[in-house]
Amino acid sequence: MIEISPFGSERARKYHLVNEAGMQVNLTNFGARIVEILLPVEEDGGLRNVSLSASSDEEYKTKDPYPGATIVPVAGRISKAQAEIKGKVYHFTENEPGRTLHGGVNTANEQYWDVEVNEAANSVCFTITLSDGSNGFPGDVRVKACYRLTEDNTLEITYTAQSDKDTIFNPTNHVYFNLTGDVRQDVADHQIRIAAETYAPLGEDNLPLGRLESVEGTPFDFRVGGTFAQGFTLEHPQNQLVKGYDHPWVLNQVAEPVEVVSPDQRIRLTVTTNQPAVVIYTYNFPSQDMAVFHGAFSLECQGLPNACNVEGFGSILLEKDQLFEHVTSYKFTWF
Ligand code: GAL
Repeated sequence: MIEISPFGSERARKYHLVNEAGMQVNLTNFGARIVEILLPVEEDGGLRNVSLSASSDEEYKTKDPYPGATIVPVAGRISKAQAEIKGKVYHFTENEPGRTLHGGVNTANEQYWDVEVNEAANSVCFTITLSDGSNGFPGDVRVKACYRLTEDNTLEITYTAQSDKDTIFNPTNHVYFNLTGDVRQDVADHQIRIAAETYAPLGEDNLPLGRLESVEGTPFDFRVGGTFAQGFTLEHPQNQLVKGYDHPWVLNQVAEPVEVVSPDQRIRLTVTTNQPAVVIYTYNFPSQDMAVFHGAFSLECQGLPNACNVEGFGSILLEKDQLFEHVTSYKFTWF
């Protein structure tokens, strides 16, 4: 049974999914968002919430609109708040000086999406239409974000979209994790493995410089595993710049390119995705006391940020009537 309950203001609803193993996921139509991911890992059979959560739509509105939300149409930063799409230059909302972040203002992560519940699939799909010209992006873009909780403890996220004009599209989910279940503890001792030979260094404006660099010999090398602590010491100028990690890695084409293990080794999170990159942000600028400094990390699977303006960063072009599909799964194992 997918239970539906109020989640703050009148239009906000919470959708509660559970599987045989007792894993639970709470979602909301406000931003097509993951609210909580609860795992039955505690010794007394208790649940541990491993994601950064708020308790109502209003709390997300006042504190931080991003945790757990669907970010569309284009995740990350766009340089000069503009891009050329099929020969025409479009100007987007500049919500950071000289840049567009996460699709602009009043974006779908702050809207109430329509909902379809599918009991048989243990899934909830949220739909919305981004209207032509909103935040400057062309096309009426019909977006569907589906979440499915499987019996093998996987939260599978699928985005499909179609536009009636040529546009750019690069969605992600902005869930933050802290596998200790306590966002008052920093995530320094989480062990992480990323199957990536290269990452994209950033400039002063937090935008990728436009080139990829080898992870070899840097705190960005997680190929055989490491901890976030190796970047939190801030010895490397790229970690100093953003006070931790806020970087894209280009993923190798392997089955499970990212894996994170909790400091108590009780939980393993493995990520699969059909996307080329993961952006990891370690909550370096805490927002309104939702978590401490470095109290959470995101694993945003997507095309490389600013791909629309950087030669060699891949294409995020979504042509008129083309069907877009993105699938990312977060699988949990506990011991
Ligand atoms: C991340 C981004 C960070 C920060 C955050 C939102 O995806 O890389 O720089 O803007 O979103 O608080």
